[in-house]
Formats: sequence, structure tokens, C-alpha cells
Amino acid sequence: MNAQIRRAAEILRAGGLVAFPTETVYGLGADASNASAVARLYAAKRRPADHPVIVHFAAAEEAFSFAREIPKTAEALAARFWPGPLTLILKRSAQAKDFITGGQDTVGLRVPSHPVAQALLREFAGGVAAPSANVFGRLSATSTAHVKEEFPSGVDLILEAGPSEVGIESTILDLSSAEIALLRPGKISKRELEEVLETKIKSKRASSPRHSGGLERHYAPKTPALLVPPHALDAEIAKRKAPVAVLAFSRPDERVDYWIRMPREPRAYAQRLYGALRELDGAGCETILIEAPPETSEWDAIRDRLQRATG
Ligand code: TXA
Ligand code: MG
Repeated sequence: MNAQIRRAAEILRAGGLVAFPTETVYGLGADASNASAVARLYAAKRRPADHPVIVHFAAAEEAFSFAREIPKTAEALAARFWPGPLTLILKRSAQAKDFITGGQDTVGLRVPSHPVAQALLREFAGGVAAPSANVFGRLSATSTAHVKEEFPSGVDLILEAGPSEVGIESTILDLSSAEIALLRPGKISKRELEEVLETKIKSKRASSPRHSGGLERHYAPKTPALLVPPHALDAEIAKRKAPVAVLAFSRPDERVDYWIRMPREPRAYAQRLYGALRELDGAGCETILIEAPPETSEWDAIRDRLQRATG
């Protein structure tokens, strides 16, 4: 692995693209200080240029060099949750260039905990711009196989590892203005953040395209997907003539050929979510019916992704 890590870091230095595992989802990385490398990254993802990327670092001190104001709140959160699945939005420093911030005055920073990501970032010793390793708008990749499916070509190296442990993207918290806002829920919950901050946080599902996670239809399968309350699932299946695929908590129904039964525990559900949606997407059905999860806060991040997947 060491030789692979060194090769990956060399590719990044030369302006290439390296896909690598993180604890949340796989990322597609490029040198965050290299404009043409980042341009290649956007082209590979077919991502609009005004959508900012998250920059990844091995440690908090390095990450904060990309911010010009580091509030106490950022330091406290970094001390508690980094390395880990949390992205902080801060006012950018001169090191965070326009081509990674989408021209905004803020930058997204993250220190991932996955040992392979850590090894790569330490070896590279700089910021790695890394959106999720999927074509823009599509389901994030949570396995090496998914990355290959998304990018049959155009990536210089894929650092292979097992399935992503968390399965959904990092929690994004905006600390760049007086009003702290949760831009994307994730494994690290609002309550956990509030405990450290000792203050309430606003949930802001911004509809503005300033951050792509805020787009209505995102993290989506190609097959139209529909979120269905548990009590309506049976009727939804019954009324459809064309084949449907179902993602549900309950046991498979024999009228349905493609059915994936999901765990009732939110962390296990998150881990399986994108793989399961990809599998059902490949079934060639007319619709994917998704049984809605409970309305409780521990399901917030999953509900968010399912709402986006169903547009
Ligand atoms: O778990 C993750 O965060 C993964 C892994 C690879 O680290 N990365 C990821 O990146 O999900 P991406 O680019 O697919 O999603 C990042 C989200 C996007 O919605 C992006 O627009 C938003 O973060 N974002 C990045 N910088 C921002 C900023 N300065 N202000 C607001 N949103 C920002
Ligand atoms: Mg993404």
C-alpha cells in the first residue's frame, strides 16, 4: 500500500486525479492549489464551475490555513470531531482559490479519518479538493466498484479499499457567518454539534445552487424514485402495472421482483443506502418505491438523502 500511496501523491502533484476512500463515501481528488487539475476534476464529474468543492487535509492546522478567520467554534468542533465526517464552511484565506470555492468568499474544509485517506493526505502534504466520486447529481460511490462504474475512464488511479463505513456524505456546518447553519445533515448529528457549541443550530436546506447538496434532485438514481409512507406502500405496488423496484423495511412482497429489505437501524441503513439504490437502479424498472423512514431525528440525514433522491 505504501508504494500505492506514494504513486497516488505523485499523480496529485502532477495534476492528475486520484479516487480514494473516506469514511463517508469515496472522493475524487485533485491538488486544490492547481487550477488545471481542478478543471480536470470538474470536467470528469461534469460539474458546473460555480459549485464549490470540499478541501481535504491530514490535520486541522493544515485545514485552517485555508481559512482567514478561525472562530473558537471551529476549533472546538475540530478538536472533537476531526478526523471524522464533518465539513466546516469558513471564510477563506488567500490559499483557497476561486477555482475551488466557486468564486465564493467561503471554503469547505474536512479532515477525513479513513486510514487510506489519512495516508494519502499526509504523503501529499497539502489540500486535496475532493467531491464525492460520482458524476454530478448522481448517487455517491461507496465502493471501489461504484467508482469504476461512475468513471470507466478519466481517473488516473483508484486507491482501493472496502465499502465506506458511514455510507452517506459528511455533515456540513456553515460557520462563516454569525448564524451557524447546518447545510447538510450527516452521521454527526445536529444534537452532537449543539452539545459542543452550547447553542442551537439552524437547519438550512438552502435552495440556492451555491452548494450542490442544496439542489432539489441530487444523489439520485436514474430511475424515477418515489418516497412512500409505510401504510401506502401496498397500494402503490398494487396500482402499478409496469415493474417496480422496492426499498423497504418490511419483508419482500411476491408481486415485486426487485426488493431490498433495509435495516431498521439508521447507521446500518445509511451504510447500505447508495449501494441498494444503485442495485435497484440497475434493475430496469419503471419506478423505485422507497418506504419512508421514521420521522425521528436519528433518521434526519437519511430522510434528507431520500428526499433528494426522489426530487
Ligand atoms: O463526505 C463528504 O463530504 C465527501 C467525501 C469525499 O469527503 N465529499 C462530498 O463532496 O460529499 P461533494 O462535493 O460531493 O459535496 C460537497 C458539498 C457540495 O454540496 C458543495 O457545494 C458544498 O459541499 N460546499 C463546498 N464548499 C462550500 C462552501 N464554501 N459553501 C457552501 N457549500 C459548500
Ligand atoms: Mg457529491
